[in-house]
This record gives sequence, C-alpha cells and structure tokens, in this order.
Amino acid sequence: MNAIRHERPRDSARIDSVILAAFGSMDEVKLVQLVRARGEAVLSLVAERDDEIIGQALLTPIILKPAWPAPLRLFGLGPISVAPEYQRAGVGSSLMHAAIEESRTLEADAIFLLGDPGYYERFGFRETHIGNEYGVTREFMVLELREKCLRDVRATAHYVAAFGEAGA
Ligand SMILES: CC(C)(COP(=O)(O)OP(=O)(O)OC[C@H]1O[C@@H](n2cnc3c(N)ncnc32)[C@H](O)[C@@H]1OP(=O)(O)O)[C@@H](O)C(=O)NCCC(=O)NCCS
Repeated sequence: MNAIRHERPRDSARIDSVILAAFGSMDEVKLVQLVRARGEAVLSLVAERDDEIIGQALLTPIILKPAWPAPLRLFGLGPISVAPEYQRAGVGSSLMHAAIEESRTLEADAIFLLGDPGYYERFGFRETHIGNEYGVTREFMVLELREKCLRDVRATAHYVAAFGEAGA
C-alpha cells in the first residue's frame, strides 16, 4: 500500500538514498539537504510503502524579481523522485496530486516547476510567461491555483539560493 505523508526528522537518510537512486547524482541530494538544514521547505512529502520510503517531493518558496506589489504566495515544486524499482506505478502521480492539494490548503496562488511538459501537463501545469533564472521556455511551467492570478505579472521567478548552490 502506498501512503503519502509529511517528511519527519528521522526520514532524512532514507529520503537522500531515494533521491540519489532516482537521479543518479548527488546534486539533488545536496539541494534537499541544504533546504532541510535551512528550514526552507514549505512542504516535503514522502511516499511510503510497507514502512519504506520510496519517493519524495519538495516544495520551496518562489520569489518574484522585481518584487510584485500584489501579495502572491508562490511555490516551486521539485525535485520529485521515486526509487527506480517503484517507478511507473503511479507513485509519482500520487506525490504530485498530494503536493497540489497541500499547496491549496496552504493557500498558494500558483506552483511553478521545471520539468518535462509530457509528464507535468497531465497534472494541469502549463507553459508560463513568467521568466525564470535558467533561461528555459517550455520546461518552466505553472499551475495557477487561483485563476488568472499571474495574468498581469511581469517578473522573473527565483528559487531559494540552495538551488544555485547545489548545482541541481
Ligand atoms: C519523474 C518521476 C518522479 C515519475 O514518477 P513515477 O512514479 O514513475 O510516475 P508515475 O508512475 O505516476 O507516472 C509514470 C508516467 O510518467 C511518465 N514519465 C515519467 N517520467 C517522465 C519524464 N521525465 N518525461 C515524460 N514522461 C515521464 C512515464 O512514461 C509514465 O507514463 P505512462 O503513465 O503514460 O506510462 C520518476 O520517474 C523519477 O523519479 N525520475 C527520476 C527523477 C526525475 O527526473 N525527477 C523529475 C525532475 S525533478
């Protein structure tokens, strides 16, 4: 049985192993460790099966530059990972749906992510006119939880500094 729940302090090492196995590199592990050490996660969800952690999704705050006058609560989703032996069985989708629902509960206006449109469009993410630090176009996507909240915004979205520091 898969269950999605919030990360707990004793989960850290097992989460790091899942991320390393899924990405095959330490960059994303270092990123999640930095965010954890700085207490910058707005949400860290884990997927658990038979008491084993098999997936994780992280949400961090997104800041607009230049600062936008209207108050907007923006999250960045990622990294998300599922242990290779459990991929393609719906665990990633469960994490995505839970991340979106929890973001609604936290009254986020929109969620950004950087990823393959072929995967994330199924969850409602779409291309956005909001700029990003990475200079990518189609892969930088948004899900507006409050409809049209970004319509007039002209700004660039910035992740917390850990993203640049970890090389992820
Ligand atoms: C991306 C990831 C989290 C998806 O988890 P998952 O549990 O395999 O996802 P699900 O089982 O819910 O969905 C699988 C579907 O997504 C598709 N999919 C998975 N990764 C994809 C990608 N990068 N691009 C496009 N489609 C992708 C699969 O083809 C499959 O499609 P199907 O349902 O039509 O067969 C997982 O593959 C993973 O950990 N990948 C390595 C880390 C990574 O690249 N993370 C994303 C960037 S932060």
